[in-house]
Amino acid sequence: MSRIYIFTGKGGVGKTSVSAAHAVLSAGEGKRTLLVSTDMAHNLGDVFEVKLGKEPVCQRENLDLYEIDPNYVMEQDFWDIMECIGKMLPDSSGKSMEDFGMLPGMEELFSLLKIAEIRDTGAYERIIVDCAPTGETLSLLKFPELLSWYMEKLFPMGKVAMRVLSPVSKRLFELELPNRQAMTDIERMYLKLIQLQELLKDRNTTSIRLVAIPEKMVVEETKRNYMYMNLYNFNVDGLYINRVIPADIGNPFFDEWLKIQKKYITQLEESFREIPLCSIPWYEEEVRGTKAVERICKDALSGKEVFESSIQVRREQFEQVDDGYILTVFIPNARKEELDVYQTETEAVIRLGNYKRNIPLPNALKTYMITSAKLEDGKLRLRFRQECAK
Ligand SMILES: Nc1ncnc2c1ncn2[C@@H]1O[C@H](COP(=O)(O)OP(=O)(O)OP(=O)(O)O)[C@@H](O)[C@H]1O
Ligand SMILES: [Mg+2]
Repeated sequence: MSRIYIFTGKGGVGKTSVSAAHAVLSAGEGKRTLLVSTDMAHNLGDVFEVKLGKEPVCQRENLDLYEIDPNYVMEQDFWDIMECIGKMLPDSSGKSMEDFGMLPGMEELFSLLKIAEIRDTGAYERIIVDCAPTGETLSLLKFPELLSWYMEKLFPMGKVAMRVLSPVSKRLFELELPNRQAMTDIERMYLKLIQLQELLKDRNTTSIRLVAIPEKMVVEETKRNYMYMNLYNFNVDGLYINRVIPADIGNPFFDEWLKIQKKYITQLEESFREIPLCSIPWYEEEVRGTKAVERICKDALSGKEVFESSIQVRREQFEQVDDGYILTVFIPNARKEELDVYQTETEAVIRLGNYKRNIPLPNALKTYMITSAKLEDGKLRLRFRQECAK
């Protein structure tokens, strides 16, 4: 089965360069690889110095390059979804396609739907995704959960879809397939988005890799990015520290810079203890052309198992204890002051800054209440106790 590697990070840190290097390395290992860019300001073509069109182009044996044009993809493949979203959004009746482009994360959403579709064809063993800068990716990650909230409220049928797709009832899902024709467009879109979310959260399929440089602002944002990704239970399993000044540069001009970088590299090492880190040197020239990309492979990637995802990042889990249950959620770098936790009839809700994660509660917890919340060592522990009968 093909694996998806998503490279994300703040603007200009090296996402395109690092993902290109992975693609070249992967092709060199004899794996059929697709390097795909979801950033509207594409530059895969620039890096490889080739002209790319609206479909994947072969760069070398085992490597295709593809700059997704979300508008084209939308019109070609997902017109029905667009119409559905149009129907669901307040105020959007009769609006034209262009209006949808305004919604945050919409373009990336279509790009990811396209990537999921490509994955289903089985044409590639590895799909490497060069993302748009962090902000947009994050709003996108939130999107499916937001959407399912709307769906639950507006269209109770969504609940059926949810059941159909739960992992335990995959068999049931097969059984339901013939009836899919009969589903409304909205249900089908809902299913597609839930499927996409399941795919992106599935640790056996998707790796999310963060790219950073050792500078204050970037380090801050990368830590927060990591925190939110974990809040939503995405599988972040690698950090790349790019533009690291070689220690033996032998030029006094860089003495102070070396110290500054060292400070931020140490911070990154402390904040990302659970996942492998990989440093990439700062080169004397831009990463342009296949030689430059191969140089990153040679200096930083080869000999390491960069396509493995062997780390065991603690996922969220429910465990039974003497007097109830504990739900543990891994949220590295979170601060108490920005956390808020509450419970609805069916969900535990964790609010972190501007983000909110709804975690469905198992039926067994229907009569339980959250009695305490403790944040320790990057882990939030919610304790559930049974409501006493009065
Ligand atoms: N290790 C490096 N040494 C020297 N130059 C680098 C290095 N990594 C990246 N660059 C250069 O820095 C610039 C930004 O890199 P790149 O395009 O890979 O970043 P990006 O994160 O994809 O940017 P964007 O957010 O704009 O898509 C490019 O000009 C690239 O050639
Ligand atoms: Mg880029």
